[in-house]
Amino acid sequence: MAPDLRIALVGCGSHGAARLAPAIRAAPGAVLSACVDPDADAARAAAHGQADVLPDLDALTHAPRVDAAVIAVPHDLLAPTALACLRAGLHVLVEKPVGVTEAEGAAVAAAARAAGLTCMAAYCQRFLEVRTRARDLLRRGLAGDVRTAAASKGGPPLTGWLADPARGGGQLLFLGSHLVDQLLWLHRQPVTRVYAAMTHRDDTGSDESTSGVIEFADGVSAAISLSQAAGAPYDHLEIIGTGGRIRSDWLSGQIDVETAAGHAARRPRVEYVRSDPMQPMYDAEVAEFAAAVHAGRPPAVDGDDAVRVLRVLDALRASAARGAPVDIADGAARRSAAYTLDAADAHLRIQFTYPSDRIQEPFLYDLSQRFHLKFNIRRADVDAGIGWMQVLLEGERSEIDAAIAWAEAQGIRADPVEGDVISG
Ligand SMILES: NC(=O)c1ccc[n+]([C@@H]2O[C@H](COP(=O)([O-])OP(=O)(O)OC[C@H]3O[C@@H](n4cnc5c(N)ncnc54)[C@H](O)[C@@H]3O)[C@@H](O)[C@H]2O)c1
Repeated sequence: MAPDLRIALVGCGSHGAARLAPAIRAAPGAVLSACVDPDADAARAAAHGQADVLPDLDALTHAPRVDAAVIAVPHDLLAPTALACLRAGLHVLVEKPVGVTEAEGAAVAAAARAAGLTCMAAYCQRFLEVRTRARDLLRRGLAGDVRTAAASKGGPPLTGWLADPARGGGQLLFLGSHLVDQLLWLHRQPVTRVYAAMTHRDDTGSDESTSGVIEFADGVSAAISLSQAAGAPYDHLEIIGTGGRIRSDWLSGQIDVETAAGHAARRPRVEYVRSDPMQPMYDAEVAEFAAAVHAGRPPAVDGDDAVRVLRVLDALRASAARGAPVDIADGAARRSAAYTLDAADAHLRIQFTYPSDRIQEPFLYDLSQRFHLKFNIRRADVDAGIGWMQVLLEGERSEIDAAIAWAEAQGIRADPVEGDVISG
């Protein structure tokens, strides 16, 4: 069995101590070895007497007792701290937004790549059940072809360094980063252009409220709304497509689905996701980091994902300042590492059978655009009455399952094929 990954928590403030330290302790194959913070009381409280308490990174990097760092420091220190940890040979899980600009995020991603070390961005909401379930419904085609999306997030006025623009404070970087990441994760297309209007607080000068539009290469647009003027926290997003809509509300744990697609749900319905909306997502995030390091595979959210988010945030800020749209070259956009074929673990032979009224439709093309799988057609027979196609699907098992479910929701029958179609 591989030895436990020895993790240092760097930054033991409110998020590090309350959420990340317990998540590190709970992660399979990981152990919390050190707590680093210039505030000795904070570091001691996070360590619970079970980890070294260290004042700074120097003390950490001169003591070869750790393999990885989980970094939760103020925004202006995220990238310099991550770079120092990478230089010391540590894998890093870096709190969002990883840097305060695209250039900072790109420096972290490049340093990790050059050193051959894991760099994961802590976009924890990708592990939130109310979002993974919504994404699953989306991939099963319940909204049809996506046309537009709307996402909102915010809460009460920010305080301390979070309210200080010189320290990377403000709602755009703090919560806007999550919101943009969620949209880029749900709609895997390059961003081409953004527009934004933004207001700033008189007392702190930090950005208070932002309304923006993000345009994707396929013509889909998403509206975002962010604020630190609200009396209570809120976080919801809605995806609208030709087949219906899916709305996911984090804090109520509620998903609304209205769909006309397939047989899965003919009537509007409301689902409740009843688990704790907080700690399980942090536990899943840190467990994914440890598992990725152990397996030597890319993590579910990597440094390039953080760079894409920062690129959009930089452009939203620039658009608001200029009062004009800003074009983006997001050509490097690609599917999340968790869904690349590097992580391929399944092959499945499926016969798709479709009725005569579907024969003219580019079904396999649609499937290939929607799901990140290898498709290998082994046999096919199409005539005026009925068409069938035997296809070898290769990729992540969850992606294959989602592709089959989507096909069925379109009225295409999908049956496993016995025997070896490779010889066919
Ligand atoms: N993912 C989430 O749900 C979530 C929630 C809250 C905060 N965060 C993120 O976590 C990070 C920290 O936020 P927070 O609310 O915990 O801030 P905080 O101010 O409560 O804690 C930051 C800690 O970092 C320490 N610190 C400062 N400089 C340091 C250094 N050079 N080395 C080590 N420690 C240092 C401070 O003493 C403090 O204890 C931010 O990136 C924030 O966006 C994420």
